[in-house]
Amino acid sequence: MRIGIFDSGVGGLTVVKELFKLVPGVEVFYFADTLNMPYGNKKKEEIIECASRIVKFLTLYSPDLIVSACGTISSVLADMNMSNYVIGVIHPSCYAASKVTKNGNIGVIATSFSVESRQYSKCLLEINEKFKVFSESCPSLAGIIEDGDIRKEDSEIAKYMNLHVKFLKKYDIDTLILGCTHYPVFKSLISSIFENVSIIDSGFETAKYVAQILNGKFRDRVLSEISGKNKLKIFVTKRRKNFILNASNIVGFGVSRDVVFVSL
Ligand code: DGL
Repeated sequence: MRIGIFDSGVGGLTVVKELFKLVPGVEVFYFADTLNMPYGNKKKEEIIECASRIVKFLTLYSPDLIVSACGTISSVLADMNMSNYVIGVIHPSCYAASKVTKNGNIGVIATSFSVESRQYSKCLLEINEKFKVFSESCPSLAGIIEDGDIRKEDSEIAKYMNLHVKFLKKYDIDTLILGCTHYPVFKSLISSIFENVSIIDSGFETAKYVAQILNGKFRDRVLSEISGKNKLKIFVTKRRKNFILNASNIVGFGVSRDVVFVSL
């Protein structure tokens, strides 16, 4: 099975890491638009333009499915007239939150663009109009994760959370969606700050959804390829200092040989 997965940077690898555990034998073509990262502070037209170019590029590898492993890009997918062939992270994350929440008060943290687009709220309210959604943007958080060394950023992330988003707890949220795929990298830390709040990991939930599609629509091929090794090829549009280090730490193996520089 060939899957195209893309994001502005390393964040979407949180989907890849989980997908590799759930579906053995899958081949992933991962695109990180590191030149244009962060997407979360861009205008809708720019995001659509970048995303369209990436989808066109990934299509050259004839993937069976393409995953927008980015909350920000997923917020504009509806405006891009993509077929079901391209799926995003919003629905799987909201669906998971809807199953977990007891009191219906759901927090969402994501990029400025994602929060302003209100796509997470829209999706949650479509699932259940009684939900109360409290969203907060974290404008610089994806950048801190992308360019920092993720093994060492705990105190910076904790400071950020305590200062900018911990107040969400006062709304009695019992569930918090990590609406940007960079954030699950610090899931346990965020979990320790939001005690007694169920944390929804957009990377994991999206991988679960992809696995469901593969095990449904492509079941025979999944079964025949199950003994194969997972394969990963990564395309980047800029060589950022910590990309290989962070990417390797997220997926759990060294990726230096798998990264190729491309210009779109
Ligand atoms: N991983 C992206 C997201 O899920 C990062 C956003 C950015 O580039 O600002 O939104």
